[in-house]
Amino acid sequence: MLIQATPPAIQDAAQALRRGELVAFPTETVYGLGADACNGMAVAKIYALKNRPLHNPLIIHVASVEDAEKIGQFDSRAQTLASSLWPGPLTLIVPKRNGNGIAANATAGLDTVALRIPAHPVAAALIQSAGTPLAAPSANPSGTLSPTRPEHVARHLAAQGLIVLSGGATTIGLESTVLDLTTHPARILRPGAIGLDELEPLIGPVQMADGTEAIKAPGQLKRHYATRTPLRLNAVDVKHGEAFLGFGNVGFIGVESVGFVRDMDHHLWRNLSPEGDLHAAATHLYAMLDELDQSGAPTIAVQAIPMQGLGIAINDRLSRAAVPK
Ligand code: TXA
Ligand code: MG
Repeated sequence: MLIQATPPAIQDAAQALRRGELVAFPTETVYGLGADACNGMAVAKIYALKNRPLHNPLIIHVASVEDAEKIGQFDSRAQTLASSLWPGPLTLIVPKRNGNGIAANATAGLDTVALRIPAHPVAAALIQSAGTPLAAPSANPSGTLSPTRPEHVARHLAAQGLIVLSGGATTIGLESTVLDLTTHPARILRPGAIGLDELEPLIGPVQMADGTEAIKAPGQLKRHYATRTPLRLNAVDVKHGEAFLGFGNVGFIGVESVGFVRDMDHHLWRNLSPEGDLHAAATHLYAMLDELDQSGAPTIAVQAIPMQGLGIAINDRLSRAAVPK
């Protein structure tokens, strides 16, 4: 059920959450699938609907730093980051407080907890009116593309009567940066819009998890964010019949078959940002992959994206999406 996120609709959705139902809602990153984080039965519905492995913990969304500090133990680094970068696309992993009221299945039984205050006004209003923290993963079946538009949620998550609060396309388009503050130095478990350049001036050196160590973010290692159609990364040409996802100048891209139009209006061709803007590319990534995924092409050739700034997060998602089934 797509419902425009008006104030009365947000009130109704908050009531549904208090009754233990799920509600999908927009955040500035991607759409989330929310449940009352203190209600284990409600949280269990998230795992079931997404077909998500039970060992993969959820992010707890709160409305204020004060509420976050009731759930997790904040050291000075966490306090600094929360006061400077929240609300925003940053998730902090901190030690859990005992007796914090959060259902054990929301954190997959770990003694740490992932916390975030989203910046989107609809998300903020929903958490406020629900009056409870919301456990909310991205609103997509586990392992698939994250939803950046309400239609994606409605199309991919088939749940009768699920309220999907519609707030248009999300602005950032990639999931939040996940930062582990249980270690020194802190470590980025999932790159996102907030990078080392913003974190290090605030809390000193931060490491990038390289994926070779023990799994800390269980959702992070295997195939994820994936299209059904196989991806061919760093493509310098397009083979006959292939779909193509470009970035910036595509003039040099070779085309295998004669007569194939070198024209981004072609139904199998998209450009993440003709201007080569990484922010625009992040915003469009999942929606364009979703369109090309539906085209029926045997593969999607993806042009190289520079490994800098948001390009790091975009390449992280693309490389996981390209892991074969
Ligand atoms: O932008 C976002 O973060 C979106 C919106 C809806 O807020 N949410 C989102 O949730 O992307 P999800 O569940 O798709 O991704 C959460 C990530 C997973 O990789 C999970 O393993 C990790 O955070 N995570 C959660 N709790 C953790 C913990 N205690 N320790 C390590 N990783 C954790
Ligand atoms: Mg997800």
